[in-house]
Amino acid sequence: MAAFLDSVPISGIIRIRDMMYTVDKPFRLDQGDVVFDAPQTIKDALIKAVHDNRTHYLPTVGVPRLLELISEKLRTKNKLPIEGTQDLMVTTGGIHGQYIVCQALFEAGDEVLVPDPCWPPTASIIQTAHAVPVPYPLYAEKAWRPDIAEIASKVTPRTKAIVITTPHNPTGGVLTRSDIEGIAALAIEKNLWVLADEAYEDFVWDGEHVSIASLPGMYERTIPLHTFSKTYAITGLRLGYVAIKDKVIRSRAHKLLLYTASNISSIVQYAGIGALEGPQDCIQQFRAELLQRRKLFFDGIREKAGNVLTGQTAAGAFYAFLKIRPDWKSPIGGDNASLSWAMTEYLIKQGRVGCIPGADFGPRGEGYIRLCYARGTEELRGALEAIGALLHG
Ligand SMILES: Cc1ncc(COP(=O)(O)O)c(C=O)c1O
Repeated sequence: MAAFLDSVPISGIIRIRDMMYTVDKPFRLDQGDVVFDAPQTIKDALIKAVHDNRTHYLPTVGVPRLLELISEKLRTKNKLPIEGTQDLMVTTGGIHGQYIVCQALFEAGDEVLVPDPCWPPTASIIQTAHAVPVPYPLYAEKAWRPDIAEIASKVTPRTKAIVITTPHNPTGGVLTRSDIEGIAALAIEKNLWVLADEAYEDFVWDGEHVSIASLPGMYERTIPLHTFSKTYAITGLRLGYVAIKDKVIRSRAHKLLLYTASNISSIVQYAGIGALEGPQDCIQQFRAELLQRRKLFFDGIREKAGNVLTGQTAAGAFYAFLKIRPDWKSPIGGDNASLSWAMTEYLIKQGRVGCIPGADFGPRGEGYIRLCYARGTEELRGALEAIGALLHG
């Protein structure tokens, strides 16, 4: 494994993060972080866990009460046919869940269908399991959804799984029920696993969130990947979970969980109990705020930079994935090989605006930039002014 890791790329998001540290008073629209404070119920539960001395080893898979609450949530909200808690494992955020699932599921050389563009860690994590990510395109003209027949055409005897991410990072695309049914039918016909990344399940603005594991015959071949990070604005606490019905895969994942974490931070798990036991209206409040910010940001881009940056208002998540006018030239030169890197460097160095180059999300992302609008209103206004001053007219 050791030398092999040299060939696994590190996300450009990290390069950007380093660039942002050199910027005075930056507008941090680069990271997919939610600016809101954690709900009070979560903070109270975290503090209470410290006072109650919840600082000792726990069952590897998670605190029983947290697992019960997650099971209940998956049954009622996601409509999964899950019984009890035996399929569940709590992880150190969604990224850790993806890691242990990929290691538990894939053999060397297995092909895994992944969207292009795609959140960079997904492909890299698949590679760390010695499997091969095979991109299937998402189309801007289809609101960043795939063509199911085209996904089918990419299935080979080596294909083991399809990854779906809905709502999608970086594009904000949302799969329709009919897309999900088509992917489910394909998975059943070709005997494939589905990894369902549902990190943004609470941020669908146009359309509905359908958990593919809720469809008949799908829970047994789907591994839903969830996180508390975005829903409850607690990206730094690192809490996620997976559900694995298959006993063999689950037992492998259990070992990986044990050997990578022993158990997930005790006080963080109690914070998770607070999140799920508490009222869920914080999600509605975040949603209402984000909807306004989505409008503010997309309207602002159209008004101030629509001659260079264009894109439909995204149906889900909290990103704007904007197309750069292909003949745009950076006044400061920069990366000649990549329009999206040239724009990113220009906005960061001249405008203090953090963003991520589309190229980082895969070949189909080149020519785009991603900006996160889950930021403070003043920060968004400042970023829009800066972008407007650099790109307008
Ligand atoms: C598509 C997607 N999945 C999963 C995650 C994992 O988030 P975390 O590891 O913070 O739970 C992210 C974070 O940005 C994401 O964008």
